[in-house]
This record gives sequence, structure tokens and C-alpha cells, in this order.
Amino acid sequence: MDDIKVPFIDLKQRYEEEKAELLACVERVLSKGHFVLTEEVSEFEEKAAKYVGAKHCVALNSGTDALMMGLWALSIGKGDEVITTPVSFIATTGSIAHVGATPVYADVRDDQNIDPAEIEKKITARTKAIMPVHWTGRLADMNAIMDVAKRHGLIVVEDAAQTMGAYYHGKHGGTFGNVGAFSAHPLKNLNALGDGGFMVTNDDEVARKVRLYRTHGLQDRDNCVMYGVNSRLDSLNAEVLKFRLDRLNSIVERRRRNVNLYRKLIKPGHIYIPEDKPYERNAFVMFITQAEDRDRLKAFLLQHGIESLVYYGTPLHLHKAAAKLGYKRGDFPVAERQTDRVLALPHHQHLTEDQIAYAAETVNKFYGV
Ligand SMILES: Cc1ncc(COP(=O)(O)O)c(C=O)c1O
Repeated sequence: MDDIKVPFIDLKQRYEEEKAELLACVERVLSKGHFVLTEEVSEFEEKAAKYVGAKHCVALNSGTDALMMGLWALSIGKGDEVITTPVSFIATTGSIAHVGATPVYADVRDDQNIDPAEIEKKITARTKAIMPVHWTGRLADMNAIMDVAKRHGLIVVEDAAQTMGAYYHGKHGGTFGNVGAFSAHPLKNLNALGDGGFMVTNDDEVARKVRLYRTHGLQDRDNCVMYGVNSRLDSLNAEVLKFRLDRLNSIVERRRRNVNLYRKLIKPGHIYIPEDKPYERNAFVMFITQAEDRDRLKAFLLQHGIESLVYYGTPLHLHKAAAKLGYKRGDFPVAERQTDRVLALPHHQHLTEDQIAYAAETVNKFYGV
């Protein structure tokens, strides 16, 4: 079995699978000779808004910009506190800091998503918003979070970067709060050929402002109504994302099938896999386990040709950039305990059942079970 390789990602295989359609996208866009804010972009926006069930979608350069512009359009800035999670990619906190607001952390639950009861404890007179993250493609407990937000009159900006194809009680992630910010980075389930992102909202004014902001605040060529930035999803990526959106559900299903196989084959006792609740549809952008003796397991897997990754070894409050926020080790015990244990196993849609079975058996072998 040891000659089997299990790569963590395989974007080249994705290209082989979609070559004809991707090259047709390139041909369609290049032959028109227009690349910025063309009909491909508005068609993608319409399609994505319909898919998630939101009134507006605004296509942008990245998920990070979607977060920042959402906060900005909701007038969150200096003097405001935004309650968020220490378990995420750095962009979640970065977006809050960049609009001038203060990130305030609340600890997570065992499934790595923010704990609504901990959010409530962190509310002060300065709290303006909550930014939950739907980490790995599993939605945070949005009914409880929206309940806290309503009772305290808070805005909710969902970091939905890992959320395409993920539902909670039948509703798509990113559509519970005021704004949902999505990433189309190459490692996401709906991915562009490079960076990309989009914001969804039911708020006409927020959509209007972000549309202006992404293109220098220009209403038309001669009229700038505010100073903005350049954060436009390019037309080629819009065309690719339109095509890939039709395939998203099948990708999510293939990833879910692979995770279920792991669940069946990995013997319990040493590695914790958060369960999926009956009301969740986890999109499994990542498959993160919590493993005993994580670093030795990771090395053992690699010796056997299986790639795995630590997402992430440092919780957000312990980065150097967060020093001025004044947190210390021990402040968020659940998140901190998880950082020593988290290990993402390869589960992407191009893996065969044999590859998954081999990876699961190797995990069992490591623990001697
Ligand atoms: C949870 C989370 N938030 C924000 C981002 C930022 O998205 P992007 O890389 O598209 O800027 C990412 C993606 O990398 C992410 O995983």
C-alpha cells in the first residue's frame, strides 16, 4: 500500500477535468476584448445571489476586501468593537483592524466555531458588531448568534469565506446577518483562477456603497462621489466562477462522501472529528480533525506519502500583530487547546476511496488501533 500518494490538494487534476470548459471561458472573454466590470461580472453576481438566496451580490478582488468593505459600508470604524473568534485565518481580524475598529475575541466551542454564550459576555457599550466565521465550511450557531445580535442591537458581518455550499437549518451561510463575505481563493470550494471574492447582502444601501467603493467611488467616468479603491473581480474569473458554480454541489457532495468514509474508517479514541448536526450541511472546505500527538502523526503520515496541514498553529490573539490588543496565553482555553491538536487531512474531490482508506488506515496504524 505504501506506494499510494495522498496529496493535500490537486488543482492540476482539476484543470485536467475542466480543461475544455476553462479554455472556452478564456476564449469567450478574450475574444470580446473587455475585461473590467463587463456583463460576465453582473451575470456571476446574479447567479451567486440566487444560489445563496440574497438580494445582492457584489463581486470583488478577494474575501478580505469583502469583509473590509462590508464593515466600512455599515459605518463600523474607529471607537467600535467587533466581537469575533480567535480561530480563523488572519484576514478576519485584519479586516476589523483595517477599518479602524477593535477586534474583541470570544472563545469557541469544540467544533471550532464561536460560542454564542461567550459573545454575550464580551458585549460592552462600544460593541457595534459580531463577526462569526463559518470555519471549515460548518456554519456557526447562527440562530443563537442572531438572537444575541437582536437583543443587543448589533450588526452581524459573517465571514463566509469558507461557506459556499454550506447550510444551517436549510438556509445558506452568509445570508443571516447584514453582510456575508465570501472568498473565491483557489483553495475554496468555489474557486477562481487566482484571487477573487464577493459580498452578499439584502441591504440596498450597503450594496450601492460597495459597488461604488470597489471602483474608486466613480458613478460614471466623470463623477466621483466618494474616494474608493480598485477591488473588481476580473471578467475572466467571473466567467470561470459562473461555470464552476454549476459544479459546486457535486464538489461538496464528493468532499462530504470522503469525510464520511474517514468517519467510518478511523477508529475512535485518539482523534476527534466534530460531528455534523442533522440541521447542518457542512461544505468541508477543509476537513480538520483534532488529534493526539499531532506533530508526530503528521510526520508519520508524510513518511507514508500522505500530506496533511495544520490550520493553524497559532490562535489569532497570540500573533505578534495582536500584541497591542493585550491578550495572553490562557485567555481562550478551548481555542488554545485546539491549536496543538488541529490537523487537516486530505479530503478533496479528486481522491479515490482507496486513497482515503489508505490515509485512514495509516492514522489507525500510528495510534496502534
Ligand atoms: C475564514 C477566512 N476569512 C477570510 C479569508 C480571506 O479571503 P481571501 O483570501 O479571498 O482574501 C479566508 C481565505 O483565505 C478565510 O479562510
